[in-house]
Amino acid sequence: MKSLVRPLLLMSAVFTTLNGLADCYDPMDPNGNITITFDIYMWKDDGYMARVTIQNYQLYRHVDKPGWQLGWTWARDEVIWSISGAYATQMGNCSSFKDNIPHSCQKSPIIHDLPDSSREDRSEYCCRDGVLSAWAVDPSKSLSSFDIQVGNLEHNTRGYPPLNLSLMAPGPGYSCSPVVDADPTVSSDIGGRREVQVFRTWKSTCVYSSFLAKQTPACCVSLSSFYDPRITSCPNCSCGCKETAQKIESCISEGDELSPSDALLNSDILQCTDHNCPIRVHWHVKNNYFKYWRVKLTVSNLNYKRNYSNWNVLVQHPGFSQNTTIYSFNSSLLPTVGIEDKIALFWGIDYYNEKLLQAMKEQLGSVTTDVILEKDLNSFTLKNGWAFPRKIYFNGEDCHMPLPDQFPKLPNGSSNLQACTCLFTCIITLCLVLLFAQV
Ligand SMILES: *[C@@H]1O[C@H](CO)[C@@H](O)[C@H](O)[C@H]1NC(C)=O
Ligand SMILES: *[C@@H]1O[C@H](CO)[C@@H](O)[C@H](O)[C@H]1NC(C)=O
Ligand SMILES: *[C@@H]1O[C@H](CO)[C@@H](O)[C@H](O)[C@H]1NC(C)=O
Ligand SMILES: *[C@@H]1O[C@H](CO)[C@@H](O)[C@H](O)[C@H]1NC(C)=O
Ligand SMILES: *[C@@H]1O[C@H](CO)[C@@H](O)[C@H](O)[C@H]1NC(C)=O
Ligand SMILES: *[C@@H]1O[C@H](CO)[C@@H](O)[C@H](O)[C@H]1NC(C)=O
Ligand SMILES: *[C@@H]1O[C@H](CO)[C@@H](O)[C@H](O)[C@H]1NC(C)=O
Repeated sequence: MKSLVRPLLLMSAVFTTLNGLADCYDPMDPNGNITITFDIYMWKDDGYMARVTIQNYQLYRHVDKPGWQLGWTWARDEVIWSISGAYATQMGNCSSFKDNIPHSCQKSPIIHDLPDSSREDRSEYCCRDGVLSAWAVDPSKSLSSFDIQVGNLEHNTRGYPPLNLSLMAPGPGYSCSPVVDADPTVSSDIGGRREVQVFRTWKSTCVYSSFLAKQTPACCVSLSSFYDPRITSCPNCSCGCKETAQKIESCISEGDELSPSDALLNSDILQCTDHNCPIRVHWHVKNNYFKYWRVKLTVSNLNYKRNYSNWNVLVQHPGFSQNTTIYSFNSSLLPTVGIEDKIALFWGIDYYNEKLLQAMKEQLGSVTTDVILEKDLNSFTLKNGWAFPRKIYFNGEDCHMPLPDQFPKLPNGSSNLQACTCLFTCIITLCLVLLFAQV
């Protein structure tokens, strides 16, 4: 017994390490980060005025409601005299001020964006409830900014960078680098004929890690094809098992209605499935024409209590290197470094399907599109599961894929496995090698 334990531990250690490695570097978005910039543009007697900008440079991870929340700790006894375009959640103890009362005297203030409805106080990029688009979806909506007046410092100070920046966007998952001096931000004036620059610029970069976010998996992939009547459903327990995970609080059977008491509950309620995921992405290989092939891509929402606005889906497939026509989604190809396959990002069309609606009694919420891909006759094949996606992300979270031996099969029984199991085989081999080295 004992001789078995060690190799097993070792194997799980290898898997954990592989997972960990995959976590710190995202090959789909190697530079993805949210950059926070403090631009001091005016000195005051006891401090400065600064514009704070939160720029989402992540290609496919957006900041959803309830929006970003930015916090830091002041290096000295700074107070925030005023903010426009955002607000500090707490005023704190301002009892030592007499005539003018600061907006916040907190040592560690927490700042929120203003709601959509309060636009009278707006600066250029404010007041969207803290929602930021992903960079590849809409760069013009991927930033927020607000102005603060900071004071209560000694005269003629050049300010002190805030410490311990923290970003919730909206939950945990981001870690931010220390705030340090950077080249002053330059902008253009007089229609681009003159350059102006701020007095002093501080920057910090925040990067996301799903390990820090500790999110339960949210999504899985199912597959089907015109040449195999069998549907490959999502793997069982993709997002946890009912027996073991308490996370899945309640589910209701297909066709049932939310009971009035469920409707009042605040927690999510899913349709009962063997995979327990709130989101399912289905890839159906629909037709094989002479020069083209056609796929139907469907995203289903199995949650009765949540709408997903500004959803996006990322698909890794070599076929996207060819001309592609997408009917009912907006889309863009992402730049890829070190990945041979192409990566396509899909999102909804405004006023049509940008919102993935909650499930209801009669049907799941869903958005769907047909995709027509041109064939590269050198690579196109229905064999070996080539026509199925390599990876799918929903709203930046990895979707659990079926194993290649479960993929739909060609009728003549030709092997589906080879190409796709290679990576898996490599990992197993590595484990075995280590295992034997240990024994
Ligand atoms: C953050 O993203 C921007 C834009 O992609 C990039 O220029 C910058 O180098 C990134 N910063 C870090 C620290 O990765
Ligand atoms: C508020 O701050 C003042 C001085 O800064 C201090 O004397 C007072 O005790 C504080 N009040 C509370 C309730 O902490
Ligand atoms: C910054 O955060 C670290 C770790 O959370 C903590 O030890 C340190 O005291 C904090 N510094 C300030 C000035 O709050
Ligand atoms: C998934 O679970 C269902 C019942 O819960 C079972 O019938 C089915 O065989 C399972 N599938 C796999 C691949 O284990
Ligand atoms: C989702 O959207 C529908 C239609 O806009 C609305 O009736 C429903 O209340 C929304 N659900 C939630 C949880 O916001
Ligand atoms: C894509 O289609 C356009 C027009 O339909 C054609 O001009 C172009 O050569 C095609 N590109 C590729 C890579 O096939
Ligand atoms: C597609 O997305 C881009 C960028 O967000 C937007 O400008 C364009 O209007 C969208 N197209 C449609 C048809 O919604």
